[in-house]
Amino acid sequence: MSQPLPLRIGVLGSGKGSNFVAIDDAIAAGQVPAQVVLVASDVSEAGILTHAAGRGLPNRFIAPGPFRTKLDEAAEAAYIGALREAQVDLVVLAGFMRILKGEFLRAFEGRVVNIHPSLLPSFPGLAAWKQALDYGVKVTGCTVHYVDQGIDTGAIIGQRAVPVLDGDTALTLHERIQQAERELYPAAIAAIARGEVKVKGRLTAGFAGGA
Ligand code: GRF
Repeated sequence: MSQPLPLRIGVLGSGKGSNFVAIDDAIAAGQVPAQVVLVASDVSEAGILTHAAGRGLPNRFIAPGPFRTKLDEAAEAAYIGALREAQVDLVVLAGFMRILKGEFLRAFEGRVVNIHPSLLPSFPGLAAWKQALDYGVKVTGCTVHYVDQGIDTGAIIGQRAVPVLDGDTALTLHERIQQAERELYPAAIAAIARGEVKVKGRLTAGFAGGA
């Protein structure tokens, strides 16, 4: 029987790119049957683009337009065009600081995933690790989920719990959550690539490493 082709992934990020690096390392180690076909960023000097370039992977700054938290119509079309041109099967958001809605989600329906630094549905939105610390929870973590029209509301694919320790600062807690992210995200993408993640409404099943 012929092997299925590796999943073609396009990664969008605005920051340092540690999740992207973990995903690409796991691909290189043969743990994820995928290939990164495009890395794109709304921040021209983002670390994620430098990492991609250093790895010889196609990388592009795509100007986001005038808004701070979303793409304008022209920018949205440019992102859709670049991802389509690269023939991506899955759009992987790895610290992309713009809300994607409407046209973009229709173009890649059911094929956009994100990682969020809390155990959703707790603490959606910005600086979720700080929200968790300020609230006083004893356990937080990270979540990989499909992206829908809401903010951090899509079907949950997998989660990792992370303890909040006495004396944690926002910095130490965030670092511990990011370590968990770097394990969870490659494992979740591997499960998607192998066709193991089945979605029924907002429920998913089949990802053995999901918790
Ligand atoms: C991660 O902590 C993720 O939870 C959030 O953005 C951050 C991106 O970090 N969505 P990096 O750029 O992957 O290092």
